Amino acid sequence: MPIGLPAELLVALRRARRVAALTGAGVSAESGVPTFRDAQTGLWSQYRPEALATPQAFQRDPKLVWEWYAWRRELVGRARPNPGHLALAEFERRLAQRGAVFTLITQNVDGLHAQAGSQNLIELHGNLQRTKCFDCGRPAETWAEDGSVPPRCPACGGRLRPDVVWFNEALPPEALTAAFEAAQACDVFLSVGTSGLVEPAASLPFEALRRGAVVAEVNPHETPLSAHATFVLVGPAGEVLPALVQALSRQ
Ligand code: OAD
Repeated sequence: MPIGLPAELLVALRRARRVAALTGAGVSAESGVPTFRDAQTGLWSQYRPEALATPQAFQRDPKLVWEWYAWRRELVGRARPNPGHLALAEFERRLAQRGAVFTLITQNVDGLHAQAGSQNLIELHGNLQRTKCFDCGRPAETWAEDGSVPPRCPACGGRLRPDVVWFNEALPPEALTAAFEAAQACDVFLSVGTSGLVEPAASLPFEALRRGAVVAEVNPHETPLSAHATFVLVGPAGEVLPALVQALSRQ
């Protein structure tokens, strides 16, 4: 089904010197990774993610939280980038060819944008494939498999945890600063596959709007941004983004 792409959006993208995009779990939905607020599948359906992804939950039951993330890591390990991820990486390459800059800001922790080839990538909420110590904060690449769950930090003996941002935790400051700078400097901002419910990421498209950028949303459903965006492209990222990149390649 050909998707109606507004001519004015194509003009704005062709003229843009700087484009920024914010992605959420929706861009990985077509890779088989459940979105954050859709019904949890399988074993974990009885848990609310908000009740697991917090420092308090980890301190209360570190084994449960470690095992939930081990389940997500295994699930994500089987996932592959979908046409939406690949289109964003292709878009970055095409802009670079004409000296324009594309900054991809993601809330996702699944690593699929990097796998798809995106280079200028800001991981606002960390990355599931990285592990660090809950107690001393040092990253851990390997650890003793001695049956401890969660495993122990090789540096201090503390409990290891996924290197992802939990609720009530601060985002990595350098990533957050870079994301706001990209949103404030861009000519066009794409918001793809995010419900726009979690701050500070949800403020990025509004920051771009405030600075006079053209803002386009890609989402099959309405979000708090929809009423404010310059353009709303209703559809799955795996179809809309390739169609957008293809339309841009036709002069
Ligand atoms: P959500 O699960 O809140 O929202 C997913 C969005 O993707 C929804 O708006 C869906 O309509 C949309 N969607 C579903 N399928 C899609 C598709 N094929 N193409 C495009 N969009 C699609 O996930 P996020 O908005 O990413 O943070 O959630 C933001 C943050 O909340 C997460 O990063 C996580 C969570 O708490 C932390 O864990 C800190």
